Amino acid sequence: MARPEWSKEKVLSLDRKHIWHPFTQMKDYETRDPVIITKAQGAFLYTIEGLRLYDTISSWWTNVHGHLHPHLVEAINKQLELLDHVNFAGFTHPYATEVVERLKKFLPPALSRFFFSDNGSTAVEVALKMAFQYWQNRGFAQKTRFVCIKEAYHGDTIGAVSVGGVDLYHQLYKPLTFKTFRTRAPYCYRCPDNPPQEFTKEAPLPPCSLACLEELKNIFAQHAQEICAVIVEPRLLAAGGMIVYPVEYLKGLVELAHQYEILVIFDEVATGFARTGTMFALEQAQVVPDIICLAKGLTGGMLPMALTVATEEIYQAFYADYMEGKTFFHGHSFTANPIACAVSAASLALFEEENPVKKGAPLRKYFHKRLIELFADEPYVGDIRYLGYVGALELVANRRKKTPFPPEKRIGFQIYMTSLNHGLVLRPLGDVIYWFLPYCLSTEDIDSILMESRNTIREVLLKEL
Ligand SMILES: Cc1ncc(COP(=O)(O)O)c(C=O)c1O
Repeated sequence: MARPEWSKEKVLSLDRKHIWHPFTQMKDYETRDPVIITKAQGAFLYTIEGLRLYDTISSWWTNVHGHLHPHLVEAINKQLELLDHVNFAGFTHPYATEVVERLKKFLPPALSRFFFSDNGSTAVEVALKMAFQYWQNRGFAQKTRFVCIKEAYHGDTIGAVSVGGVDLYHQLYKPLTFKTFRTRAPYCYRCPDNPPQEFTKEAPLPPCSLACLEELKNIFAQHAQEICAVIVEPRLLAAGGMIVYPVEYLKGLVELAHQYEILVIFDEVATGFARTGTMFALEQAQVVPDIICLAKGLTGGMLPMALTVATEEIYQAFYADYMEGKTFFHGHSFTANPIACAVSAASLALFEEENPVKKGAPLRKYFHKRLIELFADEPYVGDIRYLGYVGALELVANRRKKTPFPPEKRIGFQIYMTSLNHGLVLRPLGDVIYWFLPYCLSTEDIDSILMESRNTIREVLLKEL
C-alpha cells in the first residue's frame, strides 16, 4: 500500500502538473495515466491499485537479484548507522575499498585502477576523457578522435551522445557533439552481405565473413594517427535493439585496435554483472580492453553508482609531479557514495555466494529454448535474438522482406500499453520487444512471462496483419 496520504488522485495530479519524465512524450499522458508503482519484491512491481506486474526489463536493466533482496536491504540499513556521504578527494573509506577488493576478483587482472562516478553515462564520459588525456599526457597531441559503432548507445550526456549511433535519440543533438568515425554495426539480421533469410527453428546461421570488421579495419588503417580509442558494447548492442553479435567480431575489433595502437573501451554498463551469462561479456571473447565502464547492476540495481576501470598503463600516464599538468580533473559530488558502495559490496558478495553465473545456466537455457518454441512460427517475428538473461524479438510487417512496421503505427508502444493488462512490463525499443530478466526467476515464471508476452503481442498485431 502507498502511504495513506498519497492517494492515486494526488500523485497523478502533482505528476501531471510538475513532473517531466525521461524518454517520454508527455502529451501521451493526455489519454492515459502513468502507472503508479508503490512497491516491489523479487521479480514483481506492484501498482497503487495492488496490481502485480513482472518486471521483465529489470527496471531499465539495473535490478539483477530481484527487488529488495534482504542482503542488500540489510547492507543499506547497516551503512546508515555509519557514514552517509563524504567527498572522495582527500578522503577515502573502507566501503569503496571493499567494492574494489570484491570486484577485482571478477575482472581481468590488467584492469586494476578504479575511478568511481554516478551512472552509466558518467562512466562513459570518464572513459572518453581518460582515453583522450592518456595520449595527450604522452605527447601524442594529434590522437583526438574516437571510433564508435552505428546502433551503439552509451548514454545521454553530450560525450556519450557523440559516440552513440541510435538516430532516434542522437540525430537532433549532432551540432552539439564532437566528430567521430562511425563504423557499421555487426547487425547480423540486417547484414547487407548476407541474403535475406526467414527465421525458422531449423535455419542455420548464414556463413559469415565478418565483412563489418573490414569497414573498421579501413578506418583504423587510414586514420590511426588521429584515433585515440574505439568504444563498443561487448556482444550486445543493447539500446540499439538488443542486437547480439558474434564473439569473433569482438575479438577482431580488439586485435585490430591493438595492432593500430588504439585504445579499446568496453561499455559493459548494460552487459555487466552476469546479464549475458558470464559475469562480464568480455569473458566470452577472452579479450581485455584498456578501459571498462560499469554501472546499473554494480549496486544490484538499488542505487546509482558507476565505475570506470583502467589498466595500470593508462593510470601511469597521469601519474606525475603536479606541475606537469597531467592530473585527471574530473569528479562528481556523489563520487563513491558510501551507501551505494555498501550495497554494491553486498551485491558482489551475492555473486560469490549465490553464483547466478553458474547456477542460472539451466534457467537461461530454458529461456532460450522456450523463446524459439513459442515465437519461431509467429508471422510477425522477423528475428529472435538471445544471450544470457536477455531475449529479443524484432517484429516486422513482412517477414520475408524484413519490412519494418510504419513508425506511425507505434506497434512497440501499443504492445507496452497492452502488456500492463497482461501482468507484465514490456517496454520495447521501437518494434523490438525484449526481456532483460532478473536472476530470481523460476522456469514457471519464464513460461508465464513468455506466454503472456505472446498473448500481448498477438492481441496488438491481430489488428494489424
Ligand atoms: C551500454 C550503455 N551505456 C551507458 C548507458 C547509460 O547509463 P545511464 O542511463 O545510467 O546513464 C546505458 C543505459 O542504458 C547503456 O545501455
